[in-house]
Amino acid sequence: MRVLITGGQGQLGRALQAALAGHEVSAPGHAELDVTDAGKVREAVRGFGPEVVIHIAAWTDTAGCEADPARALQVNGEGTRIAAEACARAGAAMLYVSTNEVFDGEKAEPYHEEDEPNPINAYGRSKLEGERYVQSLLERYYVVRTSWLYGPGRVSFPEKIVQAAREQGQLRLVTDEVASPTWTVDLAGAVVRLIQKPAWGVYHLSNSGYCSRLEWAAEILRLSGLEGIPVEPTTQREFGAPYRKAAFSALANVRGARLGIELRPWQEALAEHLQTSRSDSGAAAPATQVN
Ligand SMILES: NC(=O)c1ccc[n+]([C@@H]2O[C@H](COP(=O)([O-])OP(=O)(O)OC[C@H]3O[C@@H](n4cnc5c(N)ncnc54)[C@H](OP(=O)(O)O)[C@@H]3O)[C@@H](O)[C@H]2O)c1
Repeated sequence: MRVLITGGQGQLGRALQAALAGHEVSAPGHAELDVTDAGKVREAVRGFGPEVVIHIAAWTDTAGCEADPARALQVNGEGTRIAAEACARAGAAMLYVSTNEVFDGEKAEPYHEEDEPNPINAYGRSKLEGERYVQSLLERYYVVRTSWLYGPGRVSFPEKIVQAAREQGQLRLVTDEVASPTWTVDLAGAVVRLIQKPAWGVYHLSNSGYCSRLEWAAEILRLSGLEGIPVEPTTQREFGAPYRKAAFSALANVRGARLGIELRPWQEALAEHLQTSRSDSGAAAPATQVN
């Protein structure tokens, strides 16, 4: 297949490039292709002629989005409109990666694909705007919602936890944010299987099972031989982050499962990630905030 990936140099972009080995792939990074530049995006899509555009370019800094919601809408909403219009013109299908943060967390069980989104922070609102554009401008689209990404090539939650544990000797993590940690390697494999099928619509793809931030950190510590580090429970309110996150936003993968596309339990993926990072001797960069 010919596949163009926007935001192709981010953590999921790199995992997708690896999963698409053997396919014809163009994966421009932010500096090469800014998705808010309509002329450049149109030209990139027309020039490469992809069958599918995997649109993952996004401003993913939740605190930044909260402080500057207009910019969030510009990159995550308008940028997605521009990419979807370019796909429509060029006759390409689109796979848009969205987020569990489109849900408000009021449902006490995992969200199904057809549940009504109701985001409670600026990042979630901007990603939902992107979803709406994709659904209104294209017939051949996949919207793939996922959650809590981590993977090779970027210092993300597991590396921050290990680093903070070593530096501080104790941790404080929230218990009122529950979702599914998802390894980019597993998600990328699932996305590559999905784009081979003309089964358009909304999908929920994350590693299976769910946990709180505290439980996720505890499992990282256990797998890293740091289970002796005390982890104090806290709440979002006590922690004082400048944004709200849904208390419970785990995703139920119903539609993907019908196609035989399912991701393994999050604990298994995490164990493999930590094992492979250790063998790659991936040194973690310093981090101070672990939520
Ligand atoms: N991370 C998560 O936990 C999570 C959870 C659910 C869904 N998602 C979604 O999954 C996708 C991939 O996320 P990720 O974790 O791989 O994030 P990431 O590493 O931050 O990748 C996003 C990429 O988009 C690029 N980008 C930002 N603004 C852009 C613009 N205007 N034009 C072109 N590229 C731009 C970024 O480049 P710069 O860094 O150079 O700006 C970055 O390389 C995103 O769509 C995100 O919303 C992420």
